Amino acid sequence: MEKDNFIHHRPLWKTHIGFLFAAIGSAIGLGNIWRFPYLCYKNGGGAFLIPYFIALFIIGIPLMILEIGLGHKMRGSAPASFASISKKWEWLGWWQVIFVMFGIVLYYSVIIAWCVSFFFLSFRLGWGHDPNMFFFKEFLMVSNGPFSLGDLRTPIIFSLLLVWFLNWWIVFSGVQKGLERANKIFMPLLFFITAIIVFWSLGLPGAREGLFVYLKPDFSRLRDIEVWRDAFGQIFFTLSLGFGIMIAYASYLPRKSQIVKDSFIISITNCVFSIFAGLGVFSVLGYMAHANSQGFSEVVSQSIGLAFVAYPKAISMLPYFPQLFGLLFFGTLVIAGISSAISILEAFTAAIIDKFHYSRKSVISVLSILGFLGGLVFATQAGLYWLDIVDHFLTQYGLVLAAIFECIILGYIYKTKVLRQHINHYSAWNLKKWWWDASIKIITPLVLIVLLISSLVKELSAPYGDYPWLAIVLIGRDWLIYTLFFAVIIAMYPWKIEPGERTLSS
Ligand code: PHE
Repeated sequence: MEKDNFIHHRPLWKTHIGFLFAAIGSAIGLGNIWRFPYLCYKNGGGAFLIPYFIALFIIGIPLMILEIGLGHKMRGSAPASFASISKKWEWLGWWQVIFVMFGIVLYYSVIIAWCVSFFFLSFRLGWGHDPNMFFFKEFLMVSNGPFSLGDLRTPIIFSLLLVWFLNWWIVFSGVQKGLERANKIFMPLLFFITAIIVFWSLGLPGAREGLFVYLKPDFSRLRDIEVWRDAFGQIFFTLSLGFGIMIAYASYLPRKSQIVKDSFIISITNCVFSIFAGLGVFSVLGYMAHANSQGFSEVVSQSIGLAFVAYPKAISMLPYFPQLFGLLFFGTLVIAGISSAISILEAFTAAIIDKFHYSRKSVISVLSILGFLGGLVFATQAGLYWLDIVDHFLTQYGLVLAAIFECIILGYIYKTKVLRQHINHYSAWNLKKWWWDASIKIITPLVLIVLLISSLVKELSAPYGDYPWLAIVLIGRDWLIYTLFFAVIIAMYPWKIEPGERTLSS
């Protein structure tokens, strides 16, 4: 029943490129622009690309194929897809979409809100001569610990309202008119502006030294397990895997779809974009080191410091049109961020619609209000600490655990063979058994278990980030436990229409 762009009343992407842009839009986010270049610098420069690409090919792409194949076959969000395999596993789908909706997107939207504020500050280079002081003391007014919440920061609240309005509006407008149309504007714009930034930066004096530091390989770093952990962790986060997002996006694909080829295109475009964006970031830092006659290590800082301290400082020093550069830089962060945030909202919205048959418009309206209210804690004076702790726990544990279960269910309970045959039935690129089955059944779960154990060992040896243990337990660990608890409860509710009934036969 494939007519009027619907299969079994489920909307479809209008165009193939629309799907690709939406999936790439989810993958390319804040993490590509500020996290990847910093990880590269910290972990042996060009040598980091080795574990990064190994992670991409042995885990990233196989899991991307798994999620897209699953969504395509089951024609449902993550909970519906896992419930179609067996009701026993429905909770896993809920857990993924709940911790990404009631965790990641809450603080992710707050960071986008900071970018919106900095976008407006760029008109007058409003961060002044000391961006470090400005960001932490004037803008965030960071308190002295996670339990001293202090006041809500009004400038952040206004930007956050704008971010949630955009999120709401795009998802409210539907798959074709909202997500697809927005990404068809966002992605070309993002590529275009990033290219301007990179070529502009490459022409600055000192850029070459910056690139040298960014990409000069130090192979001895590869002996450090931390480097490998960073590479594998980054691949998951950057490809938006393990959150049920790609499952939901793929559920809107038409019958005839190139699952394997698309998975390669999405994953590789994302990673090439990261490397390319890093050229711009490091050229600018090189310029700053050159202009201040400083050593490089003095100008580089970690993710948040990189975007909101080091970069503003460099922008103010630019010889020509610094305001314009600021607008372009923070504009790209906002675009990259929003196109990821809407994918998270869609993953959750689709799940609720599948199970309870509420209208998209009411689901997203309620979610956006909850999302805005839930984000307020990250907009207090202790917001930075909360953000750091919640991010650490959800990505290091929630995400990894969910992905391990995903592999076990698809590898052993549902059997990789069934999904592989489905994927091969529809796509021109054939999925090879030795590569894909080995990855899903053995390599990915094994690597993830090693990652999990090594994170746990590190966790127990010292409290993360030197926060008090109480904060770690109450904010980090409990956040994970509550999301799991709600997932199990929702999974117990009955379905209006049995999820298995929409499945595509192969
Ligand atoms: N992939 C996005 C990034 O690199 C982050 C993201 C995480 C998006 C989770 C959606 C879901 O920034």
